[in-house]
Amino acid sequence: MEKKKFYITTPIYYPSDKLHIGHTYCTVATDAMARYKRLTGCDVMFLTGTDEHGQKIEDKAREAGVTPKQFVDNIVEGKGGILDLWKLMNISNDRFIRTTDDYHVEAIQKIFRKMYDNGDIYKGKYVGKYCKPCESFWTESQLKDGCCPDCGRPVVDAEEEAYFFRLSKYAGRVRELLVDTDFLQPRSRVNEMVNNFIDPGLEDLCVSRTSFTWGIPVDFDPGHVVYVWIDALSNYITALGYDNEKYHDYEKYWPCDVHFVGKEIVRFHSIIWPAMLMSLGEPLPKRVFGHGWLLLDGGKMSKSKGNVVDPYLLAERYGTDALRFFLLRSFPFGQDGNFSNELLIQCINTDLANDLGNLLSRTTAMVEKYFGGQLPAEQEGTDQDGELLVLATALRGKYEEQMEKFAFQSAIAEVFAVISRANKYIDENAPWVLAKDEAKRPRLARVMYNLLEVLRICGTLLIPFIPETSAKIFNQIGVENEDQTNWDSAAQWGALPAAAVVHKGENIFPRIDAEKELAALDEIQAEAHKAALPAVELEPFATENVPFDTFAACDFRAVKVKACEAVKKSEKLLRFTLDDGTGTDRQILSGIHKWYEPEALVGKTLVAIVNLPPRKMMGLDSCGMLISAVHTEHGEETLNLIIVDDAIPAGAKLC
Ligand code: MSP
Repeated sequence: MEKKKFYITTPIYYPSDKLHIGHTYCTVATDAMARYKRLTGCDVMFLTGTDEHGQKIEDKAREAGVTPKQFVDNIVEGKGGILDLWKLMNISNDRFIRTTDDYHVEAIQKIFRKMYDNGDIYKGKYVGKYCKPCESFWTESQLKDGCCPDCGRPVVDAEEEAYFFRLSKYAGRVRELLVDTDFLQPRSRVNEMVNNFIDPGLEDLCVSRTSFTWGIPVDFDPGHVVYVWIDALSNYITALGYDNEKYHDYEKYWPCDVHFVGKEIVRFHSIIWPAMLMSLGEPLPKRVFGHGWLLLDGGKMSKSKGNVVDPYLLAERYGTDALRFFLLRSFPFGQDGNFSNELLIQCINTDLANDLGNLLSRTTAMVEKYFGGQLPAEQEGTDQDGELLVLATALRGKYEEQMEKFAFQSAIAEVFAVISRANKYIDENAPWVLAKDEAKRPRLARVMYNLLEVLRICGTLLIPFIPETSAKIFNQIGVENEDQTNWDSAAQWGALPAAAVVHKGENIFPRIDAEKELAALDEIQAEAHKAALPAVELEPFATENVPFDTFAACDFRAVKVKACEAVKKSEKLLRFTLDDGTGTDRQILSGIHKWYEPEALVGKTLVAIVNLPPRKMMGLDSCGMLISAVHTEHGEETLNLIIVDDAIPAGAKLC
């Protein structure tokens, strides 16, 4: 029988910096899904790769004094680069695409031309801000205090010739796709897309630029390079051979079964990508799943904040499987999760060392001690075994139900419910008591066999998450061939031969001394962050004095955040509802979404200047300004709100 096909992708990563644990999260999840589908017997295509063009890379390469290609080669293929990280994390991708690969470049040029020829790409004007000395185009949002973010000089309104994709033409069809089908999951993301982006009106999309050169040239119009999304999103089809001769799997695997993507790029995958495919007349992917972010202290991880967590460090310290397991066990895949070292160590100690590790070491030690490593054929089951047997054989069904929903956390929880039950079963049957009575040997043998079977079934269903550990478990409990650890056998009781040769091996997850380890980790991470922090650039100090009265006229107050939310249709703005001590709420809008998640700010005491004239932003009044500290680190603007002691009452004057 022909195998069922399953095509799954991760986003392609920007090789502008070393990847952090947040990036690792999505790739590990995709790997677990790919391994699960292979376990169920599917013919899987798992694609990942790198998204290597654009101004940011061009700028970084210039700073580093190398060509953009040399720069990305180093981050992708160099020592400790992205390929090394995926190897370390035991990622089983079938293909890896780099958008600088020749076949991709050739295919993008063809795709661009097709869309131009069918009238969906047209030439227009990109309106933005221009810095003459730097010869750079900027968008309004990239400006710093209205000036060029590079040199700080004033910018002028300017137009740049650019190609546009008629995204607006597809608004109706994309809306139907999102609202009427299960295309986008979790379902909660559909409202966000429809209310924030589609219903307010989709604008055509700028798809070429002339102000930088590190991109795929538009072959029929030199000077233009393809800008971001046509280049990046098309990787999912070019890597199968669409419009190129490098691969020939497009017919076989497209449409994709699921694109896993982080929540901030759901918009591109659920609106632009289907519209592009509609324009090309190609089938749409079956699903896009937008997962949550791993946060640190409630905020986004970012290199410029110095708060990225290094997956290399953790994998080397605790093992690849422990880290993979932690990522998928600890957070629901569709939602944000707060990373912490405490949670990581607790997860390793509780689930892996205590529950799974103990079950394996106790069972194998007892089979060795009481039977010299091999159980006799004569075994005696009792009614007492029923509950464990039913649970273990029903496990595959429950697990499958969760895996099919990409609910990794729940699928793992199902397995661990059976592992816990088996540990309890040991205590209930007290093998050490049975062992004292020669007449009870058949019963003792059956108790041991049941435990081995639970380990075999659970080990099989854990392959997607901890593949190396599953192999160690199989080895210790005497599994002889793959028929004993395949999908069918995971729902069958008795696949392990009664006379399997068992041996107690190494402890699969030694318990960690949490207190000592946390202190050590804190120290290493603090050092690493310090070392990684690039030189700080400060704003130039003002040289002109201001009269004291001018300063004194500024009314600075402590304000408390009652509510905070993102402003619809804006990528930057947060809307704050503040207690300023007057009894009437004050509303302030602040363009700081890039650095803060709104939920993390509720309850904080901040500083605002409250006697600026109200200003309208995105149709909303902003009555004052929140005060932050800003500085630049390696060309990246960093902002920290001034958060003050909660003991300061709302409305207190700061002078
Ligand atoms: N190049 C684009 C994707 C193009 S796909 C056609 C891109 N690259 S990225 O390197 O910035 O991010 C890659 C993925 O990593 C995104 O899905 C993003 O959501 C994910 N993550 C980055 N930081 C993350 C966390 N802290 N937590 C979870 N995932 C996060 O976007």
